[in-house]
Amino acid sequence: MSKNILVLTGSPRKGGNSDLLADAFVAGAKRAGNTVTKYTTADKNIKGCTACNACFSKGTACVFHDDFNELATLVEKAEMIVFATPLYWFSFPAQLKAAIDKFYSFFVAKRELKIAQCVLLVCGEDDKESSFAGLVKSYELVANYLNWKDAGQIIVTSVNEKSDIIKTDALQRAEKLGEGIS
Ligand SMILES: Cc1cc2nc3c(=O)[nH]c(=O)nc-3n(C[C@H](O)[C@H](O)[C@H](O)COP(=O)(O)O)c2cc1C
Repeated sequence: MSKNILVLTGSPRKGGNSDLLADAFVAGAKRAGNTVTKYTTADKNIKGCTACNACFSKGTACVFHDDFNELATLVEKAEMIVFATPLYWFSFPAQLKAAIDKFYSFFVAKRELKIAQCVLLVCGEDDKESSFAGLVKSYELVANYLNWKDAGQIIVTSVNEKSDIIKTDALQRAEKLGEGIS
């Protein structure tokens, strides 16, 4: 059975390493017959959560005029969520983190999500996989808390310049991971 997959990207660099990683996954997942939406959080105006706890009280997920409201409708349709991101300061980039923070709205409004599975695609300059541990742990704790089953992680070390990732096997691995989703 095909899935509705939402790919959230975290980098502002078009054609950058994590963007290519996302595209490779998307290509594989589409070939396998899934419906895939790629959402570039860095192009959006998603502000940090203010903890006003008024989520969904005025019809939209966030009571402020915030692009999270368009994202929230995509999140509510998704069966799988994919995070495709660079490592920023051992963690998620602020643009993507702001979007993740606003998942709080579903929790406040007790709205159940259909998401059952998740994937992590992450890259960074550091040559040690241990430097990605903070982000990976956050991803795993969120997944565990929301009952999402981890369907795969691709951690790409030692990529920094825009097309560095092409020199690795990560794009092939991401495409294969996408292809295996059904
Ligand atoms: C603000 C900022 C913070 C970064 N912090 C880290 C870091 O903590 N560890 C690391 O390995 N790379 C770090 N990097 C490098 C990026 O993760 C790396 O260049 C990555 O390949 C960029 O992916 P992109 O092309 O998808 O933007 C940082 C880059 C920026 C711009």
